[in-house]
Amino acid sequence: MPSSLDEALDTLVRDIADWPDAGVVFRDVTPLLADAEGLRLTVEGLTALGRRIAGGDIDKVVGIEARGFIFGTPVAVALGAGFVPARKAGKLPALTHGVEYDLEYGSATVEIHQDALTPGDRVLVVDDVLATGGTMAAVDELIARTGAVPVANVVVLEISALGGRERLAHERLGALRTY
Ligand code: PRP
Repeated sequence: MPSSLDEALDTLVRDIADWPDAGVVFRDVTPLLADAEGLRLTVEGLTALGRRIAGGDIDKVVGIEARGFIFGTPVAVALGAGFVPARKAGKLPALTHGVEYDLEYGSATVEIHQDALTPGDRVLVVDDVLATGGTMAAVDELIARTGAVPVANVVVLEISALGGRERLAHERLGALRTY
């Protein structure tokens, strides 16, 4: 059983070589999710980091599909906030806002329900990994379209070589572990 968050991240995030493509090293958090204490420490860490960066009330947590749903929901419960999913295109049933963003090859679209957030809501965004930052930047834009305000963006892992932090160019990003 890990005795600290650092130990959990050291021992329960595994590298999978050549997945999903040759030359890519995938950081797999499923062992962290499967470990009761690792999961608890991670949720506690994200909650504390989000609270510290936000520096005030958090009305809603937005979780990014798919692993942002897993981490974001218990963080929302811990904060006493509601949870809102940001989903890949075509998955949400009611009226949506959509933002397209670039992938290495091609593009993708992320969506949010137009009525999921209220103008002025203070929002914490949660995901598992920040890589290029394209997904997180698109979700910030979605939140802005609703009139709500992203006050903190937290991830479990940040892959710094891919420049996500520079791309986001704001001070409200926090990561439990930066590679
Ligand atoms: C991964 C990850 C982040 C995003 C980060 O999700 O969970 O959401 O990529 O990449 P970026 O910073 O370069 O945008 P993925 O698109 O693989 O979707 P999934 O969680 O549904 O598998």
